[in-house]
Amino acid sequence: MNPRRQWPAAVRLHTEHEPELVRLLLGLDRASRVARFACATSDAALLQHSQHALASAVWVGGIVVERQLRGLVELYDSGDNGVVEAAFLVESGWRRRGVGTALMCAAKAWVADNGRSAVRMIFLASNWPMRRLASGAGARIDIAFGEMIADLSVEPAREVGSKRQGPAHDMVL
Ligand SMILES: CC(C)(COP(=O)(O)OP(=O)(O)OC[C@H]1O[C@@H](n2cnc3c(N)ncnc32)[C@H](O)[C@@H]1OP(=O)(O)O)[C@@H](O)C(=O)NCCC(=O)NCCS
Repeated sequence: MNPRRQWPAAVRLHTEHEPELVRLLLGLDRASRVARFACATSDAALLQHSQHALASAVWVGGIVVERQLRGLVELYDSGDNGVVEAAFLVESGWRRRGVGTALMCAAKAWVADNGRSAVRMIFLASNWPMRRLASGAGARIDIAFGEMIADLSVEPAREVGSKRQGPAHDMVL
């Protein structure tokens, strides 16, 4: 396993970051596509997804290392009171080094700072990295029909002195 290190703060991704997002998505192998999208997604569908994510997510946060996007978290309002659905993705060669954990922290910070109350993650029961990531963050995990639903409650940020580093900042790749 590669050693963990301190990663740069997650930055908000915008439409101008789409080429980097597309590079990361199209580089995914079949297993990663299944893990992320629950099916062997085609390149065309991944291209569509990159546009959809940047247009529809309430926040897309990415970790940029060596001027390239190494991982991202997409947050979508679920329609369930204050619950935000999160989807994580880390570039294959950068996994198991704490990037996913750093993205989880960024997602929690965004939720706390933006009046939401919980992060929900839905993934295949066979997805052990995601199980570890969710349980390590303290999520309550339920299993139903081979799918796991992990809910992580997040305390709201305090009004005074709650300025954070990281997710609130935008940065050009
Ligand atoms: C899930 C994913 C985002 C995790 O990213 P990551 O950068 O590897 O995560 P981290 O390095 O922070 O590791 C998080 C935890 O998972 C564990 N983990 C990571 N890869 C693992 C593996 N292959 N097997 C078992 N545990 C694993 C780590 O040990 C760590 O647990 P710990 O804190 O108890 O030590 C990444 O594996 C990925 O992109 N997978 C494909 C897409 C996907 O499944 N997305 C989820 C859809 S919601």
